[in-house]
Amino acid sequence: MPRKKQYLDESEGRLVDDLWTDIYPVNSQALEDTGYATQKPEALLERIIRASSDENDLVLDCFCGSGTTPAIAEKLGRRWIACDLGRFAIHTTRKRLLGIEGVRPFVVQNLGKYERQVWQKAEFGERAEATVRAYRRFILDLYHAEPVEGYAWLHGKKGGRMVHVGTVDTPVALGDVKQIAIEFRRAIGTGKGAPQLAGVDVLGWDFALDMNETAKQIAQEAGLDVRFVRIPREVLEKKAVEQGDIRFFELAALSVDVQVKGRELAVTLTDFMVPPDDVPEDVIKAVKHWSEWIDYWAVDFNYRDDTFHNEWQSYRTRKDRGLTLSVRNKYEQPGTYTALVKVIDILGNDTTKGITVEVH
Ligand SMILES: C[S@@+](CC[C@H](N)C(=O)[O-])C[C@H]1O[C@@H](n2cnc3c(N)ncnc32)[C@H](O)[C@@H]1O
Repeated sequence: MPRKKQYLDESEGRLVDDLWTDIYPVNSQALEDTGYATQKPEALLERIIRASSDENDLVLDCFCGSGTTPAIAEKLGRRWIACDLGRFAIHTTRKRLLGIEGVRPFVVQNLGKYERQVWQKAEFGERAEATVRAYRRFILDLYHAEPVEGYAWLHGKKGGRMVHVGTVDTPVALGDVKQIAIEFRRAIGTGKGAPQLAGVDVLGWDFALDMNETAKQIAQEAGLDVRFVRIPREVLEKKAVEQGDIRFFELAALSVDVQVKGRELAVTLTDFMVPPDDVPEDVIKAVKHWSEWIDYWAVDFNYRDDTFHNEWQSYRTRKDRGLTLSVRNKYEQPGTYTALVKVIDILGNDTTKGITVEVH
């Protein structure tokens, strides 16, 4: 009997259905499991990314959760942008990406929270300039500071220090600190109401990630002592404001010991403090040693004011809770280097500190 033989490599295949039942949800024992509640399987994203993009294409996931999309995009040689409104999602995604061998450098940015614009308009009106002034006065009042007039970046004073009030919709960034330092230097000692002491409290809702210690150092080099203070979210609640129980907290502070011997640099973390704001009481009680606030830390030994390169890192995993607190690096060439130390705390906040060293 004649019959037709059909070979697989000659067959055109079959169109993929719109119902996929051959990929299973992530199992809690799977290596890829990050513990993020809505995590999608890597095999699913691999199929989607392969089917819809080529190498070097740009893949965007606006709701990245645990970061399955950017992780697979990275592994498949695609460029990617990933966003999420949750700090825990960003933290999980970043850690997941760092775990990929040969991951290319990437930046994490905080773009701010836009719902506060709505609050600002509702509380203080629609007229742009008057609204901003009323908003600043309101925050200064809660901070027990007096308003000052005539400056663009300095808005109040309190206990011998000037006060800057950050906007509702953008995080305070390095550029703001530079402007504050410039205005402060121009204004200092110029007459009544002018700043006399070299101190500014910078109040902000959000701060650009990576900023705290680095910006303090820049300001210090300009002869200015800045303190970064978070505007607590209770400010948005009428009741809390009326009861007067608004507390402002400084951002985390990091202490580092630095030793240089010949071409070798040794960096040791010696202290780290996070503000008690936002931290549940049981977490505060459970932390016995300052290092337990740190989830991971990394060093770029030759930071050149661009993207942070994770040249070395130590991080806790679910299996291994240990963390190394010291690292050494030998430079191949003598010269002046800036090492940038980046600490990510268990709440997902970044704190960075730059160290400039000369090696011989
Ligand atoms: C279903 S999860 C995504 C899971 C992800 N595909 C994974 O594999 O882990 C949806 C995510 O969207 C985030 N999200 C919700 N509304 C958002 C918004 N308006 N902007 C940004 N992210 C948002 C949530 O925080 C959550 O992490």
